[in-house]
Amino acid sequence: MSNDQFSLAASGVTVAFGGFKALTDVTLKVTPGAVHGLIGPNGAGKTTLVNVLSGFQAPSQGEVSLDGRNIGTLPPHELRRAGVARTFQAGRLFSGLDVRDNLAVTGVGLGHGRHASDAEALRVLDWMGIADLADKPAAGLPYTDERRVGIARALMFSPSFLLLDEPAAGMSEDEAADLADLIRRATEELGTGVLLIEHNVGLVLSVTRHVYVLDAGQLIEEGDRDAITASQRVRDAYFGADQEAA
Ligand SMILES: Nc1ncnc2c1ncn2[C@@H]1O[C@H](COP(=O)(O)OP(=O)(O)OP(=O)(O)O)[C@@H](O)[C@H]1O
Ligand SMILES: [Mg+2]
Repeated sequence: MSNDQFSLAASGVTVAFGGFKALTDVTLKVTPGAVHGLIGPNGAGKTTLVNVLSGFQAPSQGEVSLDGRNIGTLPPHELRRAGVARTFQAGRLFSGLDVRDNLAVTGVGLGHGRHASDAEALRVLDWMGIADLADKPAAGLPYTDERRVGIARALMFSPSFLLLDEPAAGMSEDEAADLADLIRRATEELGTGVLLIEHNVGLVLSVTRHVYVLDAGQLIEEGDRDAITASQRVRDAYFGADQEAA
């Protein structure tokens, strides 16, 4: 059994926008039941990589695979059905719907019936400890709740892989710590493989097993918490250059 059998992976991925390379030859793997970190300064290519892994952006070169199968040509909704879910840097909720319906829409999009989707929405909200939000209109939600609902929506029908693009942005330290607990629970209780993009380096290092570091579209380091903390390259590229992340 290859260890790619259960993984979401990018292999030698390059993404060019005209003459500009947002990613160059990036290889990365997300495995089930663990949190993987993805850090790097602004503009490093983190969101572009999530877009590639979730079908929103085709790679110019290289391959994306799910459980060993090339998925480079699948559109986002088919990848979601195959078990790859993501959140967006900006919430992207349907402002005219209440929270439960925001989640239920995803269930229906996945091919489930209205009733099953409603039930799953309530189950996920309850699992996250935010069942009290179910009947609230999405439009009026405080920023932190809006982000939580975005994550809840991504967790509908328990995806195998979850890509989180700066989920703790704008949260207080306490709220970010609660979120870290939730991410840990998703890996432990649901077996989800998580890729966590975060500017809050403390949060990333507290919750991840393996961290990838991008700088200017290239993977400059990867390893466990100790390896990342000790890396001079990371310090130069990230901690040095990007004061806001320090
Ligand atoms: N559709 C596009 N067309 C042209 N350039 C793009 C496009 N999308 C991203 N880029 C550029 O690619 C680079 C990487 O962008 P990306 O959004 O992936 O960075 P990021 O690491 O997510 O940054 P941030 O931390 O600010 O979210 C940036 O220079 C960005 O301007
Ligand atoms: Mg980004």
